[in-house]
Amino acid sequence: MRIGVLTGGGDCPGLNAVIRAIVRKGIDVYGHSIVGFNDGWRGPLENAFSELTVESTRGILPRGGTILRSSRTNPLKREDGPALIADNMEALHLHGLIAIGGEDTLGAAARLHADHGVAIVGVPKTIDNDLGGTDMTFGFDTAVQVATEAIDRLHTTAESHNRVMIVEVMGRHAGWIALHSGLAGGADVILVPERPFDVGEVCRHIERRHSRGRFFSIVVVSEGAVPREGTMEVQGGATDEFGHERLGGIGQRLEREIEERTGFETRATVLGHVQRGGTPTAFDRVLATRLGVAAIDAANDGRWGTMPALKGTTIQLVPLGEAVKELRTVPDEEYEVAEVFFG
Ligand code: F6P
Repeated sequence: MRIGVLTGGGDCPGLNAVIRAIVRKGIDVYGHSIVGFNDGWRGPLENAFSELTVESTRGILPRGGTILRSSRTNPLKREDGPALIADNMEALHLHGLIAIGGEDTLGAAARLHADHGVAIVGVPKTIDNDLGGTDMTFGFDTAVQVATEAIDRLHTTAESHNRVMIVEVMGRHAGWIALHSGLAGGADVILVPERPFDVGEVCRHIERRHSRGRFFSIVVVSEGAVPREGTMEVQGGATDEFGHERLGGIGQRLEREIEERTGFETRATVLGHVQRGGTPTAFDRVLATRLGVAAIDAANDGRWGTMPALKGTTIQLVPLGEAVKELRTVPDEEYEVAEVFFG
């Protein structure tokens, strides 16, 4: 068989581990050949590719990012997108495609399979950990580790200067990174997109700490967190091809608001893409490798329209549509664990 591979959407530590696993098992065990498309969906749309070999994918297991590069190209935004992809796959004699991505890349993959008959297996990835079809995505553990280390460092400087430190982390629709790094880093307030916040309440937590002799505070906020209606001003931003707004800025707005309301010196740090870069943790390398092996197994068996997912401790194939049907958001009971430590 000849199988194409692409990585779409925001990059994520562990993508290279998936590519390596697909190539190793695909070539060494099955005797298939593997074609790597460049820049997400732009690759199969524009026929930009290179042959992947065991040699060309050596040494990439611990490397962050993706050797195939990525983009937020939406193939369904081009009128002739599905036909172009099918034609280019045929010209390359491909039997199918493995698309590694998050809600947007896999959403497009699900529609290309269901509506246009393109043979696709998906692999779930995102540091946000918000895909409904899998219990966990690779990249999340690394992002939480990076954010926790940052919170630890901000703790000591916050304490030295009696400051409130706001740490803005990624998390567009779900607050998993904020919740886990905030719990691991001992945050005094955690704000997530699932729960619109009241800035007055945030200030009360901080003031309570002061009244108990703790003159510094750490507030962890997801970039997608929003104030409860009427409690604080909100702003909009530019959107990408999938209609998602470019986020960022809630940290700075909170910095001003908290300083004005409490009179305590406040500083914001935006961790941004630092959370997505660098070497994956051992956990993410293992999860990504297991998913890569399962994806090439599924392609070898012709199980198109599926996606390997982590279910409990095992990897299982689920319908591709499942991955994007629902977002996996932070449940109340997990947030309530963090709330015990607020203020
Ligand atoms: O989807 C993953 C993610 O890291 C989100 O948390 C974030 O909102 C977005 O990607 C940022 O995307 P970009 O790299 O295009 O700025």
